[in-house]
Amino acid sequence: MEDMDKDIQATAKGFHCILCNVNVPNKASLDAHLKGKKHVKLSTVRATRKAQVEHSVFVSGIKPDTAQADLVDYFQKFGPVSDVIMDKDKGVYAIVEFSEKDSLQATLAQLEHDMNGLKLRVKPRESKEFKLIPKKRQDSKNLQQILERLTPELCQTASLNEQMLKVVERFQLGENEKKARDLLVELLREVFTEFFPDSQILAFGSSINTFDIHSCDLDLFLDLENTKVFQARAKNSSEQAREGPSDDACSEDSILSDIDLSSASPTEVLELVATILRKCVPGVHKVMVVSGARLPVVKFIHKELNIQGDITINNRLAVRNTRFLQLCSGLDSRLRPLVYTIRYWAKQKQLAGNPSGAGPLLNNYALTLLVIFYLQKCDPPVLPTVNQLKDMACEEEECVIEGWDCTFPSQPIAVPPSKNTQELCALLSGFFSFYAQFDFASSVISIREGCLVPVTSFLSPDKGNGEAMEQERSFGPKLGPVNVLDPFNLRHNVAGNLTERSHRNLQRECQEAEKYCRSLQYQRKSTKGKVWGLVRLFTPRGDDPRDHKGADGGDRPLAITIPFKPSSLPETVRGQLHSAGDGFRMLWFQKVCAAVEAVFQEVLKCSLTHTSIGEDAEGKITGSPVGKSKNNQGEDASRRASSSSDCSPQKSTQGAKRALPSSESSDASVSPQSKRPRLDSYSGPQPDSLRWTYVQSHRVWAGRRKVRRELVKGVMEMDSRPEGSSVEVETQVTQHIVGKEPEDKEPLEFQVQAQVVGGTESTKALIKLQPSADGAGLFQDFFHFLEMFLPKMADTLMGKMV
Ligand code: UTP
Repeated sequence: MEDMDKDIQATAKGFHCILCNVNVPNKASLDAHLKGKKHVKLSTVRATRKAQVEHSVFVSGIKPDTAQADLVDYFQKFGPVSDVIMDKDKGVYAIVEFSEKDSLQATLAQLEHDMNGLKLRVKPRESKEFKLIPKKRQDSKNLQQILERLTPELCQTASLNEQMLKVVERFQLGENEKKARDLLVELLREVFTEFFPDSQILAFGSSINTFDIHSCDLDLFLDLENTKVFQARAKNSSEQAREGPSDDACSEDSILSDIDLSSASPTEVLELVATILRKCVPGVHKVMVVSGARLPVVKFIHKELNIQGDITINNRLAVRNTRFLQLCSGLDSRLRPLVYTIRYWAKQKQLAGNPSGAGPLLNNYALTLLVIFYLQKCDPPVLPTVNQLKDMACEEEECVIEGWDCTFPSQPIAVPPSKNTQELCALLSGFFSFYAQFDFASSVISIREGCLVPVTSFLSPDKGNGEAMEQERSFGPKLGPVNVLDPFNLRHNVAGNLTERSHRNLQRECQEAEKYCRSLQYQRKSTKGKVWGLVRLFTPRGDDPRDHKGADGGDRPLAITIPFKPSSLPETVRGQLHSAGDGFRMLWFQKVCAAVEAVFQEVLKCSLTHTSIGEDAEGKITGSPVGKSKNNQGEDASRRASSSSDCSPQKSTQGAKRALPSSESSDASVSPQSKRPRLDSYSGPQPDSLRWTYVQSHRVWAGRRKVRRELVKGVMEMDSRPEGSSVEVETQVTQHIVGKEPEDKEPLEFQVQAQVVGGTESTKALIKLQPSADGAGLFQDFFHFLEMFLPKMADTLMGKMV
């Protein structure tokens, strides 16, 4: 009864049973639940476990050859023993259960236990809270078992190449699993052709693209093109013979007559597909239409075959790109082990595989394309480009889908073998090196052309040259921090869902992996039985001590990256960058610098004390007093400062200490238009590094959220906008804090250096920060705040540039 009381919690919507993890709406349903099978069973199991714990002791100090009977004999002197449970691997511990509670007390009262010369340690059992462990799907259980076995198996193999082959062997679908999938496709084909005459059902994705793993989904494309023709014909003939009954009884009786395929929306068709699945396909359950996805889909599970399926209806390109992946695997046998290894690494590092389909991580298709692109760029290439493949195809293999050229040879034999002879382990470490330094933001990966296309080519319409490719680009894919163009649909960025954070993680993990690949443990089998090779590479994210090193204690520099994000720039700026050609980088960097200055000076009200251009010989952050600099760099900075006309950030560099804005200048926050910083007013030489020294006497980072909430209260639109998305609001928040909170006795002085990093096409700005006077130890907090705030705020400011 006592337990039962603890199980039930009153909630706003009724009651919650903690034991069974279910909600019930009222007292009557609660009573029914408490008498129900599930609750009664779990209560009984719990009571039995509790009784066992109260009647048993935990015994350690036994040996592998200790017999159960010896333990029974020994402990029987304290009272009747009802059971002895030895641990699985025998020899570490045993649980001795007595029939009576008193025997337990007697056993524990004896301080030393000597069983035939063995010193035993006897303890009371730990009573753990009884919890309902949800049932796992059979396939995920299987996968778990495979993973548990994988580590020792990998450690025992002789070489890293063998380890990679072992990964394929362990993960790929077995023959029976493949047969089960074929069977399900056949079953669905039979049922669907009943309802959709002449339809086809085709598998695509991981089940058949040669990168299959246990428990992967079965992706299906239901092709209704011929059914539409059938329906149109049937409609015509029934109209012609309106007087008599239709010849085509099938269409009249069919569920099809409920829907006109030529005008129905994808969701309507999928609802129909879902109904057919529910009513007519034996073994299918949990059918669900997901219409919000890029491609609406019906999801289902086949219970007996233990397969999760997805059916889409507008996905002919996916069938074709699956054929392309099959071809690539056929062209070079190194692709499969590489993809399996990299997919598993990416899963462990939480870089790929969005559990619910949608999310900010790479999908497996995008990750596979990243591997293919890398192999195209190896020297000599391991795989040809899609354009090269097209040229190797014969006439019958020509294929155009939705206007996209999808031509490639159907058989690998048509393609000359690669001259590249690198081993798998070298290709794997090469993959990490390739992407560790890769400038994702400024270029678009084109598997079609086998090269990087500068992102500026997609920024502004350029219909002048009339070339097909240019026209395609002018409509443009959705650009983001990572841009990987589909090899066929040239308007689709397969990594368009990635966020800044997922991009950062991807690059960081590649850098970590690259570092590891240079170590001895990567290639050399440990003679001492330690983990080596892929095992270390597969350490899950979070379990690796390197994951916990923060900005303050670890190897990572105190730097904040501002990525080149063309999508958030206004059209005019995109046009300017486009016209600047190769010089777009420096132009963009100037804009970043102006935005960064505006964040520190206008928004966060920091006082500028020093500024300079360029980098010192040691790359340290140093600066010279504003207006007092004797060297050329300082003069450049002053000239640049005096060239700005209105409230541009440079204007404030006139004094060594800049006063906080007067109430007049604070109008900027009220009417940002009138005071919008002139961010395009640099006229000095093009610097690739700028430095500032600021002083902040107020803790403007502390308690911002609360102040912001108060300020935007009642303004619905503002309420939902994230921190850093409004110059007015953030400026007011700072002013509020500065006005209310006392000045710090030991103000924080810090240095900021903005730098463009990478090669000619690089468009990343690195903002390095370093405290120069921090008596009160404030810098770490300020830096953590800036990590999120600075990129977002700079982005907002750049979005307002003219
Ligand atoms: P997935 O990313 O799910 O890949 O895309 P996968 O190989 O099937 O891996 P699992 O299922 O996560 O194990 C499935 C298929 O969808 C198409 C491709 O044909 C891919 O093989 N697809 C996916 C696209 O055409 N474009 C995309 O952007 C994503």
